[in-house]
Amino acid sequence: MEKLAHLIILLMLTFFIQVVAQQADNQMVINADLGKFTINKHIYGHFSEHLGHCIYEGFWVGENSPIPNTRGIRNDVVEALKKLQIPNLRWPGGCFADEYHWMDGIGPRENRPKMINTHWGGVTEDNSFGTHEFMDLCEQLGCEPYITGNLGSGSVEEMSKWVEYLNSDAVSPMTELRKKNGREKPWNVKYWAVGNENWGCGGNMTPEFYSDQYRRYATYCRNYGNNRLVRVACGPAGSDYRWTETIMKNIRPGQMNAIALHYYTVLEWHQKGAATQFSEQEYFTTIQRCLFMDELLEKHTTIMDRYDPEKRVALYVDEWGTWWDVEPGTNPGFLYQQNTLRDALVAAISLNIFNNYCERVQMANIAQTVNVLQAMILTKDDKMTVTPTYHVFEMYKVHQDATMLPLDLKCKNYEFEGNKIPAVSASASKDKTGAIHISLTNVDPKNSQEITCELRGAKVSKVTGRILTASALNVHNTFEKPDAIMPAEFKGASLSNQVLRVKLPAKSIVVLTVN
Ligand code: AHR
Repeated sequence: MEKLAHLIILLMLTFFIQVVAQQADNQMVINADLGKFTINKHIYGHFSEHLGHCIYEGFWVGENSPIPNTRGIRNDVVEALKKLQIPNLRWPGGCFADEYHWMDGIGPRENRPKMINTHWGGVTEDNSFGTHEFMDLCEQLGCEPYITGNLGSGSVEEMSKWVEYLNSDAVSPMTELRKKNGREKPWNVKYWAVGNENWGCGGNMTPEFYSDQYRRYATYCRNYGNNRLVRVACGPAGSDYRWTETIMKNIRPGQMNAIALHYYTVLEWHQKGAATQFSEQEYFTTIQRCLFMDELLEKHTTIMDRYDPEKRVALYVDEWGTWWDVEPGTNPGFLYQQNTLRDALVAAISLNIFNNYCERVQMANIAQTVNVLQAMILTKDDKMTVTPTYHVFEMYKVHQDATMLPLDLKCKNYEFEGNKIPAVSASASKDKTGAIHISLTNVDPKNSQEITCELRGAKVSKVTGRILTASALNVHNTFEKPDAIMPAEFKGASLSNQVLRVKLPAKSIVVLTVN
């Protein structure tokens, strides 16, 4: 009897020590009074290319479609994106941009020439969605247009005239043409990329050759009226640090305002794996690849700091996201993929990383908005569903234009077959009302995480939250079950004496509001 009592005491003691140890393993300090940098809302930007069913059927159905639309643009898609406070939309590509000739996409639609979309499925592009339709879409969304000019196969004159057509209010042939096509006032487009992936599909150039070309093209992308163009140079593919170094060396800060990095979370380019059927090994590797964004940003920004210590040139991550095999039975050139809780975790971690690098990272554009790669929205005829990634953007919108709060996080690892990655990722910001928002992820698929978070420099008394999780990592929304995964109220956080205690369930994303 006595032995049994001892055993019980021993077990209770072990349990107590384990609980305390676990709490101590995940510790965070948020410095609520030390925020210096703004999380630019453009980090929550999007990308839409003439690829598969992103533009056609995703956004554009035409005025005569039975699908409810405004001047040819789907109402359901616009409404859903407005709920994200979509800040900007990048267009027309991607690889498509460097073979797009904008003059083919203006004027009466029946007269517009057709072309072959050689990059994406070899389908016929009838140019029915062009400059005016894109600008109308941005106006309906209430977002900034971000246009990529054609440097790979277009001329300097062509790029220069597109800027003039969009932005000039003076007497000129381009202005007259725009007016003839129904638009009196200039649109004052601000964000302008000079080519896309010019190290690859945009012309297979060396960084030396590209920087010479950039300077030449960018010279003729003029400012009109009070509008100041934000000129964006093609940046590196992932870890091509030589590309960043060469661009920074050869192009002065006054000649470019940003450089655009592209990085996709992909298992292997030759074997990407299915979007909805994956092993824990594939899941672990995916998260590991996603976390590599942190190292990329650290190294690219270190190079930029050497050439531009005043941070006049921003880093944009204007293509990012997951890339899986296309859904069975769909056109391989259309890049149509499903989207699960795994994708949502990739989105949440990436956005935490961008938030934390907001001093230099001023824009990011997930690829792509509708029906392509890590989409927000999937459509089929008149049906539409939002993805788990959409829910992350909706939950995280509280960070847009808020002040980033520096934080220090010590956390446990998620271990798989002898490899380790941090289980928790976090970012925090203070909005204009003084409310603090903390976004957290726990990538461990089996174990919850107890986090103790000290809020320094803040007087707070209330915490509320929302959570995105599901019974399995591959849960996703379909047209039949559009709410299989959606945010819910989170009750696992408590606050006392400026210390937050959070119990983050396995495989979950939580956004807390503290005030
Ligand atoms: O987003 C799909 C493609 O990926 C883009 O067209 C290209 O820029 C990148 O390689």
